[in-house]
Amino acid sequence: MKTITEVLTNIVSNAFDQCGYDRHLGKVKLSNRPDLCQYQVDGAFSGAKIYKVSPMIIANAVLNILKKNKIFSSVTVANPGFINLSLSDMFLVDFVNDMFYDNDLGIPQIGLNQTIVIDYGGPNVAKPLHIGHLRSAIIGEAIKRIARATGYKVVGDIHLGDWGMPIGLIIAELEERINELSWNDIKQKISIDTLNEVYPLASKKSKEDPAFKKKAQKIVHKLQNGHDEYISIWKRIVQVSVSDLKQIYKKLNVEFDLWNGESDSEKYIPQLIDILNEKKLLYKNLGALVVDVTELDDTEPIPPIIIKKSDDSNLYSTTDLATIIQRQKEITPNKYWYVVDNRQSLHFKQVFRCAKKAELVSKDTEFEFLGFGTMNGKDGKPYKTRDGGVMKLDDLLKIAKYEALVKSQTSHYVVPDEKQRNENAEKVSIAAIKFGDLINNRSKNYIFNLEKFLATDGKTGSYLLYTISRINSIQKKANINFEKYKLTSFYSNDERQILLNIVSIGDVFKTAILEKSPHYICESAYQIALSFSKFYNSTKILSEKSEYKRNSWIALIFIVRTFLLKHLNVLGIEPVDHM
Ligand code: ARG
Repeated sequence: MKTITEVLTNIVSNAFDQCGYDRHLGKVKLSNRPDLCQYQVDGAFSGAKIYKVSPMIIANAVLNILKKNKIFSSVTVANPGFINLSLSDMFLVDFVNDMFYDNDLGIPQIGLNQTIVIDYGGPNVAKPLHIGHLRSAIIGEAIKRIARATGYKVVGDIHLGDWGMPIGLIIAELEERINELSWNDIKQKISIDTLNEVYPLASKKSKEDPAFKKKAQKIVHKLQNGHDEYISIWKRIVQVSVSDLKQIYKKLNVEFDLWNGESDSEKYIPQLIDILNEKKLLYKNLGALVVDVTELDDTEPIPPIIIKKSDDSNLYSTTDLATIIQRQKEITPNKYWYVVDNRQSLHFKQVFRCAKKAELVSKDTEFEFLGFGTMNGKDGKPYKTRDGGVMKLDDLLKIAKYEALVKSQTSHYVVPDEKQRNENAEKVSIAAIKFGDLINNRSKNYIFNLEKFLATDGKTGSYLLYTISRINSIQKKANINFEKYKLTSFYSNDERQILLNIVSIGDVFKTAILEKSPHYICESAYQIALSFSKFYNSTKILSEKSEYKRNSWIALIFIVRTFLLKHLNVLGIEPVDHM
């Protein structure tokens, strides 16, 4: 289905055309002045320059044509040449119904026949998940779902960091303990607690003890060259780590289609080297093998990308390039999106340029780095535990759940069943954390403020869940079968505002996917919930005497719930029945 501004733009473009002006001047956008009109057209200004007449002349000519169209309740021209439009009530109702009964809920299917690989999550095996990985998972999951809702085929890959230094450090430390235990014993005993204990220790040791660091590097090298013992211990570490990760991502409602890791690209590295050699791109620089990735119009120096270190070992860039060969072979997507911390932007610039230069992908394959900012504490510095350490993700989720539970026990409605109350607290806390993150422009830093995120009013996940639970309560109270009702008309400005918000959804989803920015979805969900609350607080729906009116209202709240759930679904947020 076309979005509302696409439909209106078509009508207004025809009017420009009929008046003898270029139809491209007829672009309709949401009004900057909602007090005056719902939509506006600014094309008369560009037209004035082309046709050397005043904008008012063009605007008035177009107005005379648009006035005859029944879909508008008002068409006016404002000095010095704005065309102001508002929709008739009947058209609004019809458009909302068309969206509601559309298979895709009116969301434009702009991605049909296109495939995207989205690389997100990116946790490192053996290292405990910390909050830095939270943003990638939350944002990536939302972008993946928005892309699917707009018709793309999307493959989400976690791209595990399973092949680098962290593994080397763990094995090096375990090896020091081998006197007491055999490799077999160690393998048997490794648990997530072992990894959580060993990694920070080994990491610290490597910073203080160069010999230990060297040892870990050697282990990585041997591992990557197929050392049997190391491979078998590595497999066990990956297994333990992955099963722990799966639990956490499940809690977060984040699902990956592929659990590939850096190590899976290993077998494509020889091919990568061959291609780079064949294309004469690889050259020696201070002992390392590198590819030059500068471009003519660079405004800052872009260093060459290192493919092999002087000791012949592979790097992060090597596995990222080899992974592209693998993905080309297995998926051949039209687009590659990487949801990674802003601080890695140079790395990806180098990787993308090298991949294009080496023709690992076709010319029209798109690479995009979807960077994000850091999550800061109230002091504006990267979020830490109380004693200044790195906050583990699991701990953060536990704290949030506890706070949500405390809050739910003091609210005016306490869910009677304890098990239910617990489950709710988990969902509410995850909703709060996810919405608190996604409402921000992805590339910016933001302040993590649990208290604010858990508030049931304001722009929060809790507010959205609460709004839906209010609709559920009405349904339950009156035992309504929503399916039987149809929106036929509306009666107040509050209702008009709800419908206008719904009508915008197609454009909202389109903008969100074009900019890969979930915050548009968050804002839209909030506006729908807010307009609904205003209407709901001032209306006695169930006791309304006119059956016609009551039925339409019941349909309206069902429509609101359906669209809110769609928003939450693409944000990866699960609703609760009652709260
Ligand atoms: N494991 C990496 C890290 O923790 C993130 C991986 C991002 N994806 C990629 N294809 N490089 O920094």
